[in-house]
Amino acid sequence: MKDLSPKKSDLDPIEVASRDEIMALQLERMKWSLRHAYDNVAMYRERFDEAGVHPDDLKELKDLAKFPFTYKNDLRDNYPFGLAAVPKEKLVRIHASSGTTGKPTVVVYTKNDIEVWADTLARSLRASGLRAGDIIHNAYGYGLFTGGLGAHYGIEKLGAAVVPMGGGQTEKQVGLITDFQPTGIMVTPSYMLNILEGFHKAGIDPRSTSLQVGVFGAEPWTNAMRAEVEAAFDMHAVDIYGLSEIMGPGVANECVETKDGLHVWEDHYYPEIINPVTGEVLEDGEEGELVFTTLTKEGMPMIRYRTRDLTRLLPGTARSLRRMEKITGRSDDMMILRGVNVFPTQIEEQVMATGGLAPYFQIELYKSGRMDAMRVYVEANADAASELSKTAAARMLTKHVKDMVGVSIEVIVGDPGSVVRSQGKAVRVVDNRNKE
Ligand code: DLL
Repeated sequence: MKDLSPKKSDLDPIEVASRDEIMALQLERMKWSLRHAYDNVAMYRERFDEAGVHPDDLKELKDLAKFPFTYKNDLRDNYPFGLAAVPKEKLVRIHASSGTTGKPTVVVYTKNDIEVWADTLARSLRASGLRAGDIIHNAYGYGLFTGGLGAHYGIEKLGAAVVPMGGGQTEKQVGLITDFQPTGIMVTPSYMLNILEGFHKAGIDPRSTSLQVGVFGAEPWTNAMRAEVEAAFDMHAVDIYGLSEIMGPGVANECVETKDGLHVWEDHYYPEIINPVTGEVLEDGEEGELVFTTLTKEGMPMIRYRTRDLTRLLPGTARSLRRMEKITGRSDDMMILRGVNVFPTQIEEQVMATGGLAPYFQIELYKSGRMDAMRVYVEANADAASELSKTAAARMLTKHVKDMVGVSIEVIVGDPGSVVRSQGKAVRVVDNRNKE
C-alpha cells in the first residue's frame, strides 16, 4: 500500500492548533450556538427554562453539562420543521431518515451549513489520503440519506472528481471502477464486500484495481474487517463517522497515517461521553454514550444530542483534535444473552478470525423456551464448502464466540452466497423473539 499521508502544510490551521486555541474557539462558538438555539427554537427555550439554565450561564466548556439533552424523539415530535432555527426561506437542503417505525426524522440546512459540511468532509477525505486531482467513486446512497450528497459535495470541495454512482447495481460498480480508474471509493464496508464479490464474479483481480483508499462508514465495522478489505483490494481502509442529526458523514474521520481511531472535527461538532443511564459526563478515556453539540450549525442547531453510539474519547495523535475510538455499537443494537452484553461487532470479529468462512454474516435472535437465544448465519469460502469443512467451521466459530464473547450460540454455515447481501447499511440482526 502506498504512503498517502498528507503534507502538514495542507492541513487546516485548526488541525494543528494547540488545545488552548481549540478550546477558546469552541467556547466562543458554543456560546453562539446555545444562544441561537434558545432565541430561535421554542423547544430549546422551554427546555432550558424548565431546567433553570440560560445561555449566559455558559462560562466555560464544562458548563455545557448543565444544559438538557436532546433525543431522536424530539425530532419526531417536532416533525417536520419544528426544530428549524431559521425561516424556511433560508433553507437550501432538507434530508430525512426513513425510520423503521413512525415518522421520519427531518434535518434542514442553510447555505452556510452546506459549506461547513463540505469543508469537514473534504478534511475527512484529506485525512483519508485523498487529494485534489483524484477521482473518487461515491457509492453511498443518493437521495434523502445524507451519505450520497454529503460525500458528493465534500469530494468536489476537495478538488477531486466525483463519480456519483450511488448504491446498488454491483456489476455496474465493478465496470465503472475498472474503466474510470478512481483512486478512492466511498461506500459502506458491508457493501464493499458485495463489490469485492462482483470483482471475483467478473474474473478481475481486486488487487489490480486503481483503488488506493476506501472511506468506509455509516455502520459499525471492526479492525478485523479492515484487515480483510485491505488485503483483498491492496488498499487503505479508513473509517468515516457521522450522523444526520449533527450534519451527515464527516463528523469524525481516521487519519490514513495512523488508523488509530477517528479525529472528531471538534471545531464544529463538540463531543461529550456520558453514562447512558445517569447522564453524568465521563472523563476522556472512559467508555459511554457519545453526545454531540453543534457549534456552527444555523439551520438546525443540536444541543447535547444523544447519539446512542458507544465509544470513548482519546487525545489527538496525527491531529490536535481529539479522537473517538471506533464505535463498538449502538446501545439499541446491544443484545443481552443470559446476562452477557453482546454487540454485532463482537460476532464480526470472531467470524473474521475463523478459517474457512467468508466475511458475510447475519444474526437471528429467537426464543428458546423462555430464554433469548442467538443463531448466526455465515457462509463457507468457495474453497472450503464441503460438508466436512462447513461442520468444522461451525464448531470453530461456536467455540470462538464462547471463549471470546462468553455466550453460547448456534452457528449455521451455508454455501457461498447463502447469506443475504447488504445494499447499503447491513441489517446485522433479525429479531424473531416475538414470532412463534
Ligand atoms: O450514516 C451518515 C454517514 C454516511 C456516515 C456515510 C458515514 C458515511 P445516519 O443515517 O443518520 O447518518 O446514521 C447515523 O450511523 O449514529 C451510527 O450509529 C452509525 N454510523 C455512522 N458512521 C459510523 C461509523 C449516516 N463509522 C448512525 N462507525 C450513527 C459506526 C457509524 N457507526
